[in-house]
Amino acid sequence: MARHGQAGDTAPATEQAPRKLDPHLDRYAARTEGMTASEIRALFAVASRPEVVSLAGGMPNLAALPLESLATQLSDTIAEDGQVALQYGSAHGVPKLREQICEIMALENIQAHPDDVVITVGSQMGLDMVTRLFCDPGDVVIAEGPSYVGALGSFTAYQAEVVHVEMDDDGLVPSRLEEALTQTAKQGKRVKFLYTIPNFHNPAGVTLAVSRREQVLEICRRHGVLVIEDNPYGLLGFDGQVYQALRATDPDNVVYLGSFSKTFASGIRVGWVLAPHAVREKLVLAAESATLCPPTLNQLLVSRYLSTHDWMGQIKKFREIYRERRDAIISALEQHMPPGCSWTHPDGGFYVWVTVPEGVDTKAMLPRAVTARVAYASGTGFYADGLGSRQMRLSYCYPTPERLKEGVRRLAGVLESELELVQTFGTVHNRLTSGPESPSPDTA
Ligand SMILES: Cc1ncc(COP(=O)(O)O)c(C=O)c1O
Repeated sequence: MARHGQAGDTAPATEQAPRKLDPHLDRYAARTEGMTASEIRALFAVASRPEVVSLAGGMPNLAALPLESLATQLSDTIAEDGQVALQYGSAHGVPKLREQICEIMALENIQAHPDDVVITVGSQMGLDMVTRLFCDPGDVVIAEGPSYVGALGSFTAYQAEVVHVEMDDDGLVPSRLEEALTQTAKQGKRVKFLYTIPNFHNPAGVTLAVSRREQVLEICRRHGVLVIEDNPYGLLGFDGQVYQALRATDPDNVVYLGSFSKTFASGIRVGWVLAPHAVREKLVLAAESATLCPPTLNQLLVSRYLSTHDWMGQIKKFREIYRERRDAIISALEQHMPPGCSWTHPDGGFYVWVTVPEGVDTKAMLPRAVTARVAYASGTGFYADGLGSRQMRLSYCYPTPERLKEGVRRLAGVLESELELVQTFGTVHNRLTSGPESPSPDTA
């Protein structure tokens, strides 16, 4: 993986030939060292060709959105509220939308005051702000292993050290969390927060069991560690199940991140942070320095959509689309995958996490998969410590059920050839170094 050199690095140009291409190398701040571009982006250019079935991207399926009605709402927003919609607004966000967000969060039993909600440009900005507020270089962030690639990108950009905690089919394992916190304390390291995606995890596809939720909160309280609860998929349970948020039980120790990206439209870039009251003011200041204010037009459009459209009915349509695709990919995996592979069974969200037999390296295999006209996201991008080489994330949100089936059939063929190679030559080595990759819409 191409990495930036350290500022001031004077290694001979002959050994580091590509660096000559960047005349600004000596100027970068030290923290850019952790910012790495995804070398699989080049493959995504190929993967986006129509003949390739992409199981790689996490793009929401917008086919069910009522575009004509949204066009009318957008034009009404400008015609009726143009002087406000096209003007700067407050860094805190539009008050009416913050009230509506509190109503949405009430579905997860959260009692919140609109003053404690800060609107962001997607929840990715929330992640960036929270990390900026809490993490000094060398601080530790605890995250599930695997974890969301965009969050890992933020943590490394602020030079935080990520310690992963194992998950099983019921999500984060509390005893492992306890061990990780005890271990880091023994090492004299400072843990700033636990970053968790409790519902329909990206990339693992699992959900934190209800019986574990209070345990996780109690462990974090006892160790003096804040919880960042990232919940963009919470309303996308296939049976309509909505889990009580961690924030609902522990409002003083949980920062909640929400988003309209998966339940409405990701291109609108509206998300939010619900912070403990004491943190909220610093968040508004951080938001102000990042963007001055989130886009007013987009906030007013979301607000109008929520008040005039059957948005819960729309979410039900999304759930149906995703459930049909989940069923298609799971039955194709069952039908085609070679023995020794296993995968999670998501009850909501976008992703299946697949483990392949020993000896296969999913990152090394990816170019061969793309040649066979199927793409996936290899597992190492979802770990900060190089793990994940036997895993891959398959996204079922976007392709049609038929394309999903065809994609899995092709993937299984590639895996079978790979397994033959492994049997003949031993491990198929990972030829690329690993580490967290900067998020891109392709891998989000
Ligand atoms: C777990 C998780 N958090 C945050 C985000 C970022 O979402 P947004 O579009 O709101 O910035 C994503 C996007 O895929 C995600 O999966």
